[in-house]
Amino acid sequence: MLTHKGTQEIRTKRLTLRRFAVADAQAMFDNWASDGRVTRYLTWEPHTSPGATAQLLAEWENAYASPNHYNWVITLGGTPIGSIAAVRVDERSEWAELGYCLGCAFWGQGLMTEAASAVIAFLFDEVGVNRVSISHAVKNPASGRVAQKCGLTPEGTARAYFKSAAGEFLDIRTCSILREEFERGSGRS
Ligand SMILES: CC(C)(COP(=O)(O)OP(=O)(O)OC[C@H]1O[C@@H](n2cnc3c(N)ncnc32)[C@H](O)[C@@H]1OP(=O)(O)O)[C@@H](O)C(=O)NCCC(=O)NCCS
Repeated sequence: MLTHKGTQEIRTKRLTLRRFAVADAQAMFDNWASDGRVTRYLTWEPHTSPGATAQLLAEWENAYASPNHYNWVITLGGTPIGSIAAVRVDERSEWAELGYCLGCAFWGQGLMTEAASAVIAFLFDEVGVNRVSISHAVKNPASGRVAQKCGLTPEGTARAYFKSAAGEFLDIRTCSILREEFERGSGRS
């Protein structure tokens, strides 16, 4: 059985992961949510105004009332630069699936690997999951590399599983790490 803790603050070497607030809207809009390069392989389209971002964040703030809701803004030196969330949590089978995105200006510095490793450790150590997975478009190898660097193993590809906002059918690869693997050390950075 999972022991829900809600979205608690997590600190890593360079980052602080915390709850979103409506006050993050402008930075979220500017740094990643309005950028089609970020959303290319995601389920949502770029935001068209900071007001739309603020509206979404008001909903996200309310969602923190549920103890099984995990959605962090990733901040660097106090600036919101991206997000990471448990996009699905399965209570019965005790697993979580992660989704994440980062502003382009911050890519390639190991930041998402740092954030995802910390969230994976939180989910195993604090929430008690048995499995964490990440699913990414095969055409988006940077996300697959993040999964690999976090100790996840590719387990298969679902063909044409996801239709992008641009109408492209994308093959989706799922990677996972199980509790026993995490405890053996493959998921600890
Ligand atoms: C995917 C994403 C989160 C990666 O964040 P990041 O902080 O740049 O990731 P890291 O720096 O920790 O690691 C990225 C790795 O991918 C590698 N990489 C980047 N582009 C690549 C490419 N085209 N092909 C292969 N590897 C690539 C990098 O070299 C790095 O690996 P390395 O450390 O071995 O050199 C970021 O690019 C992003 O937000 N993209 C848009 C949103 C998105 O796609 N989210 C994931 C949806 S499943």
